Amino acid sequence: MDAQEEDRTERIIDRLGYPVVIGEDVIGALRTWFATTEKRRVVVLADAHPPVAQRAHAVCAALANLDAPVLVPLGEKRKHLSTVADVYDFLARKGVARDTLVLGIGGGVASDLFGFAAATYMRGVPYAHIATSLVAMVDAAIGGKTGVNLPYGKNLVGTFTDPQAVFCDLFALETLPYRHIREGLAEVVKAAIIEGGEFFEMLEELAPFSFVDWPWLRIVEAAVDLKSMIVCDDRLEHGDRALLNLGHTFGHALERASDYRITHGAGVALGLRAAGLLALRTGRFSKAEHFRVLALLALLGMPLRTTVPAQAIADAMFHDKKKRAGVLRFVLPRAIGDVDFGVRVSNKQLLATLSQLGREPEQPSSR
Ligand code: GLY
Repeated sequence: MDAQEEDRTERIIDRLGYPVVIGEDVIGALRTWFATTEKRRVVVLADAHPPVAQRAHAVCAALANLDAPVLVPLGEKRKHLSTVADVYDFLARKGVARDTLVLGIGGGVASDLFGFAAATYMRGVPYAHIATSLVAMVDAAIGGKTGVNLPYGKNLVGTFTDPQAVFCDLFALETLPYRHIREGLAEVVKAAIIEGGEFFEMLEELAPFSFVDWPWLRIVEAAVDLKSMIVCDDRLEHGDRALLNLGHTFGHALERASDYRITHGAGVALGLRAAGLLALRTGRFSKAEHFRVLALLALLGMPLRTTVPAQAIADAMFHDKKKRAGVLRFVLPRAIGDVDFGVRVSNKQLLATLSQLGREPEQPSSR
């Protein structure tokens, strides 16, 4: 990478038909975007979680066209239709119409839920999102998926609706506690397994260092680049977009089976181990590559073992919306940088893999 590349403080990826702006100066980026787009009334919704609320107030105070944000308590357990109903009430009381832009601020739950409310209120009002968490920057806010959970499973209600713009707020990222960063890292590792090559090697090199020293612009850019390339070719998930679910069929089931005590990031990390184990068991992945993934996840402090019983995970999986015609299909690696989707396995192979997930991670020397 040359010095000019190294000095960049912002990157705009516009392959998806809307800009994804990655940088620390989200206020400057919003100002530029507002100046170059149609003048509209803007209503701001933000996650009430204190660091996000604080950031949302600072952003709104700095921009003349924005009123103070409306704060909505979120979290995975509030990602359901009654929270959406609260948002609809607010939008109606504010007289929001199709000529109003709804600007959401927050992490993955915020982009899914506010995006869903905007996509369905009055059959759709324009929406833009400021992503304040790593999960939102590298996954949830990119690609137009919106939705909420039902008691039967995660993200069972939703739409594919593109936002007008996404701003990845690296300043907010740097102010978040490490545990929030770690939450998003599983999605970054997932993207790096799909992409392979330099992306995966970069994470291996960075893993021993403190997150403070990580080049977040490059990391978020690499993940958004990969996701936007995949989504660009398959917006509605008829094919390759399913690759992005690597680790997620396991992860969502673990979240649900643990009544969301296992967070999304932890579920995906465990899901990446499980996908590697199932790929090994079905003879498509090498031990050497599996250990490379495990070593990276371990260095990043990700959970690799669960106390949730194998049968409870399997039961939750059969509720997963990715179940097709009664058959679960998996996204499994062949190698780092070569991942298959739509793979069918036997229930026996699946249960044996889930049982392994309750045991200590395998070691390179183990047989
Ligand atoms: N989170 C996976 C996708 O957007 O397709």
